[in-house]
Amino acid sequence: MMGKDDISILIKDAEEWILPELESVFGSSVSDDITVKAASYSLFAGGKRLRPLMMRLTSKMLVLDETLDEDVKYFAATLEMIHTYSLIHDDLPAMDNDDLRRGKPTCHKVYGEGIATLAGDLLLNTAMERMFKICEDKPGYIFASSSLASNAGLSGMIGGQSIDIASSDKKISVELLTDLQEKKTGALIEAAVVTPYYLSKNMTRAESISDKTAVSLRKLASHIGLAFQIRDDILDVISDSTILGKSTGKDERDSKATFVTLLGLEGAKERLGSELNSIKEILAGFKEQGFDTTDYETLSDYLGDRDR
Ligand code: IPE
Ligand code: IPE
Ligand code: MG
Ligand code: MG
Ligand code: MG
Repeated sequence: MMGKDDISILIKDAEEWILPELESVFGSSVSDDITVKAASYSLFAGGKRLRPLMMRLTSKMLVLDETLDEDVKYFAATLEMIHTYSLIHDDLPAMDNDDLRRGKPTCHKVYGEGIATLAGDLLLNTAMERMFKICEDKPGYIFASSSLASNAGLSGMIGGQSIDIASSDKKISVELLTDLQEKKTGALIEAAVVTPYYLSKNMTRAESISDKTAVSLRKLASHIGLAFQIRDDILDVISDSTILGKSTGKDERDSKATFVTLLGLEGAKERLGSELNSIKEILAGFKEQGFDTTDYETLSDYLGDRDR
């Protein structure tokens, strides 16, 4: 029987795995530049590292070649930089105007809006530099990198954030809300779930469209992304900022389009339940093929009742 202890171990292991890689780029001794300090402040503020964790889970479930581990870690750190940039910008006064993130004052509260904006830019640019650099030696990694960049862009996170802002104060359809969340949150999660597999196969774009495992991984990621964001919407209503590490009650106050503001708390919980069922079905498919889905199942249970 899996429990809270198991997810704590998985999260702790992922943090220990990714930390040296992040420190090699944004550690305190790297630069005295104020923008680097602001980026480091947010990068090491105590994020859960769930996207790096998902990369590890895919590698483990599919029993990918262990010699890939260093490259998977490199991409996991790259993705964590993009994720952190998205949060720094999401918290800016011009966006969600939040004071608290990862249990600490937001980047702009400490460093000011100008430097916080640059810190986000720097994290994104560093991520892009890293991907260009690794592709110099490994042409087969170009698709994995361009796919990750797309998932961070208009068809992914930025596109979702754009719909999110445009939907404030509006009653939007569940379909548009689903599209919004699949993009703003689901796309980076998809990158986490599929990248190790793309790397392991030196996959081309054309192959990624027809490859059955790639298709199943993307479906898995899409339901994980929705489950994750629906729980985020629920936590905004039921949680306490001291536990959550970010302010609560803001979605309603800011007239945000979320599963809770659209369907109510019970409706959101029901939809979360159906996303968790879909995750279970897809994992059952992987299990039938002989893969060990235990850790992904642990993650799935956590998505349903996580409190931060
Ligand atoms: C928060 O993501 C933003 C959303 C996509 C809902 P996380 O809850 O993974 O944030 P950290 O990295 O743990 O702070
Ligand atoms: C934003 O969603 C997710 C991002 C793409 C950054 P939210 O605005 O709901 O995230 P939180 O609640 O501030 O973490
Ligand atoms: Mg937001
Ligand atoms: Mg926000
Ligand atoms: Mg939220």
